Amino acid sequence: MKTNCIYSGDCISVLNKTIDAKAINLVFADPPYNLSGNGLKWEGNKTGGDWYMVNEAWDKMSDKDYLMFTKQWISGCHRALVDNGSIYISCTYHNIAEIMLVLRQLGFKINNVITWQKTNAMPNMTKRVFTHSSEFVVWAVKGKKWVFNYEDIKDINPDKQKDGSKKQMRDVWAMPLVQGKERIRGENGRAIHPTQKPEEMLKRIIIASSNKGDLVLDPFMGSGTTAFIAQQLKRNWIGIEKEKKYIEIANARITGK
Ligand SMILES: C[S@@+](CC[C@H](N)C(=O)[O-])C[C@H]1O[C@@H](n2cnc3c(N)ncnc32)[C@H](O)[C@@H]1O
Repeated sequence: MKTNCIYSGDCISVLNKTIDAKAINLVFADPPYNLSGNGLKWEGNKTGGDWYMVNEAWDKMSDKDYLMFTKQWISGCHRALVDNGSIYISCTYHNIAEIMLVLRQLGFKINNVITWQKTNAMPNMTKRVFTHSSEFVVWAVKGKKWVFNYEDIKDINPDKQKDGSKKQMRDVWAMPLVQGKERIRGENGRAIHPTQKPEEMLKRIIIASSNKGDLVLDPFMGSGTTAFIAQQLKRNWIGIEKEKKYIEIANARITGK
């Protein structure tokens, strides 16, 4: 098994055939949410620029297939994790039920469900429901002796006590959808990856649940956010991604070329 590289292919197959058992300290997974569909878009939006709903072939499955897919890739991660390893899974109300069910069935312990409060969420166009402005990150552990770098996380918490001293980090994280210089864009100015995750999110997760020199795996690497931050924080990493165009942009981002 090689480290600090992106494996091209289906993560279920790579997790089971290529990744060594009990080799990974931390998994961050941002799987398909299975919500693509109607190609909704809002061009000419004055507040946040053009907006396009995620509409990708890899994000469309029947409910039955999606549950099976969720079981298979989380089982692969369970096999790959060391006995005190952690898995963080990004999700929304669309897929959190499947994820929680599978984690419990596999014997994982759920430590937190972190709410990502999106501070620049899109307005609701239908005006018939509350504006969606959150996603979740489920943190689950395989055994009892998980890593939690409590003091390091306190150090990077932007929230402070009234007297300015450090504060425990809570499970609601306010941060914007990726924008500005952090967003990877093509020559036409459109975001290259539809679901690029905030670097700050990965920074918190990697600092909290791994140590320098540990091995971090992302089975849905996309634009390479996990590897980019893992490398900055002196962790080793492995990515898996099935779309060649995303592997190219992730490699360029990680190597700075
Ligand atoms: C939600 S995105 C991840 C985005 C990533 N967190 C980022 O910051 O850019 C999911 C990614 O998984 C990839 N993908 C979907 N199904 C896959 C599979 N079965 N195996 C490997 N990659 C897959 C998609 O091509 C997509 O790039």
